[in-house]
Amino acid sequence: MPVKNAMTADYLRHAYGGESMAHMRYLIWADVADKEKMPNIARLFRAIAYAEYAHADNHFRELRDQKGDYTVPAGAVFGVGKTAENLQGAIDGELHEVEQMYPVYLEVARFQDEKGAERAFHYALEAEKIHAKMFQDAQKSAKEGQDMELGNVHVCPVCGHTHEGEEAPDECPICGVKKDKYKPFPA
Ligand SMILES: [Fe+2]
Ligand SMILES: [Fe+2]
Repeated sequence: MPVKNAMTADYLRHAYGGESMAHMRYLIWADVADKEKMPNIARLFRAIAYAEYAHADNHFRELRDQKGDYTVPAGAVFGVGKTAENLQGAIDGELHEVEQMYPVYLEVARFQDEKGAERAFHYALEAEKIHAKMFQDAQKSAKEGQDMELGNVHVCPVCGHTHEGEEAPDECPICGVKKDKYKPFPA
């Protein structure tokens, strides 16, 4: 179903912009973590960058019928520092999405009966909750100048669900996709 309402379309564009920048920012911060000899934190950044790509992809596809050029305003965290500081930026960004942005966008999509946008916002909201927690765990180690302990990470390409464990779950708890679709970021 094409997006019918201007406000939902605006929020999809904002969310697309925010996720696109989060994707890029995490790749940059992953390189910083590698230089600081924190390969697990670097891997976490890269895995979560992939999840943000999945979110941007969902938002972009929901806008498939809204062709044309737009100026896209979106929240963006800036700064390159030590990994512990970069993780604070990551935590702040994820918590903004969890506590402010996606709950509001989701309500608007529901109110406007925009099923596709509702699904895209719901997927992102649920995945970002996990990201905030993982980055908080990473920061505890980074603040002590140490890499984090991190097993295999698996990311759902449909909703961005991010799972640490030997194997991916049999079924994604957010979107229901099967285990073999998950993208692995092995330890
Ligand atoms: Fe995230
Ligand atoms: Fe999923």
